[in-house]
Amino acid sequence: MPKCTIDGREVEFKAGENLIEVARKVGIEIPYFCYHPGLSIVAQCRMCAVEIEKMPKLQTACSTPAGDGMVVKTRSERAKQNQKAIMEFLLINHPLDCPVCDKAGECDLQDFSYKYGDSYMRYMEERRTYVDLDMGPVIKKNMNRCIHCTRCIRFGTEVAGIHEMVAVKRGNNTEITTIDGRPLETDYAGNYADICPTGSLTLKDFRFKKRSWFLKKTATICEGCSRGCNMELQHEANMVYRSIPRTNMDVNQYWMCDEGRFNYRHLQDPSRVTKPTKSGSFVDWSAALSEARAVTQGKKTAVFVGTDLTQEEISMVIQFAQKSLPNSTVVHFGTPGVNSAADDAALDKILKRKSKTANLHGAEKLGLKGSNTATGYQAAVVFSGGRSNVAALMKDVKVPAVGVGVFTDETKGGFSVILPGAGFSEKDGTIVNFNGVEQKLKRAVLPPGQSKATSEILMMWSNQSGAQASATAGARV
Ligand code: SF4
Ligand code: SF4
Ligand code: FES
Repeated sequence: MPKCTIDGREVEFKAGENLIEVARKVGIEIPYFCYHPGLSIVAQCRMCAVEIEKMPKLQTACSTPAGDGMVVKTRSERAKQNQKAIMEFLLINHPLDCPVCDKAGECDLQDFSYKYGDSYMRYMEERRTYVDLDMGPVIKKNMNRCIHCTRCIRFGTEVAGIHEMVAVKRGNNTEITTIDGRPLETDYAGNYADICPTGSLTLKDFRFKKRSWFLKKTATICEGCSRGCNMELQHEANMVYRSIPRTNMDVNQYWMCDEGRFNYRHLQDPSRVTKPTKSGSFVDWSAALSEARAVTQGKKTAVFVGTDLTQEEISMVIQFAQKSLPNSTVVHFGTPGVNSAADDAALDKILKRKSKTANLHGAEKLGLKGSNTATGYQAAVVFSGGRSNVAALMKDVKVPAVGVGVFTDETKGGFSVILPGAGFSEKDGTIVNFNGVEQKLKRAVLPPGQSKATSEILMMWSNQSGAQASATAGARV
């Protein structure tokens, strides 16, 4: 492998890797604003300029591929002087509003000004200010903070496939805006806030809710569709405030869609059922489990497993049905019109899939088949993590039914009894995406109220119904 030397350290690299990435491998930070590994390289902010032996001028590390034998200095006097000058230039028009900016604590501009900038500036003239038009429901714009790195413009055209962000006017008056000031149209708008290196584009949903440094971070997987984008849930005091994508080049690269980004909110719906319920009234666990047993006892029972359950949960449900619901059939459900993995397909050219649950392919791997009808059965048990489409299923389920898992005002109708369970942010487990990639859900928060893990609910139910358990195994189709 070819090698170069960065700040006195020898580094191996692959042909084509730029100096920012090669330096990163050995823990050397080269500051940058306009570069993003998922976007084209424009080398326009000049913050990443470094000194390279035998080259008379500083070179931008983002646009310079490492070369065999190259000797690079990222902290030479000339490089440092350039970093200070660029910071002073970028801050000329920047307002002093870090204390009221939602990006504070995770802002490249703020961090780099501390690390690489000067403690004073010479600019005495009036600062440039803009009037910001609304950009739609996802993103809040504040162009006074913009440093014209153009990452947002490139994300629109290169990733989202829509030319909606543009730079108008020239020089000091340059302004980043949408075409004709229209609201953003892409279903991937949240990524604009992720990639903006300043507080110019922030998430409306997150504004003024929590300072970034108070948030705990849990690396998990989106349950919004069968892609299984890697993401980080950010939470505090058992409340999720935000989710952002994690890089996985095999699954979602650097991005996620808005539906997946805001999906965690359904688990914080105030109408979520968080206590056991019988005929719409709260009861204790023992009464609810007795009712669940009464609904299914001796009945031919359809067991519907939402494809938002994990592999571990589905296996437990299959075993439970064999032991405690002897005359039962276990099937899966999730997205209307997607009854099997063969029905699943891409919804766009970016990430979104037709299956609106994350583990359809895993459920089929465990031998389940899809069904949306309880015709021919006398009772039903519906397991849902909250994402599988219970409302659509229950239109066709006309028999007494037990609900296990996550239910809200929208989905609790039609159940004789509800045993509240855990959603995707409240449990650990394995899911399998449309490509067969196994990924891990990680628990970020605890299930609310009296909700319990599926394993606990099944254990309590099977202990209560042990007396009726028969040796006859429930059939699995
Ligand atoms: S809005 Fe943000 S991403 Fe877009 S050009 Fe300005 S600083 Fe860069
Ligand atoms: S594409 Fe699917 S998995 Fe990815 S963020 Fe959107 S809903 Fe979630
Ligand atoms: S990151 Fe290299 S010039 Fe902007």
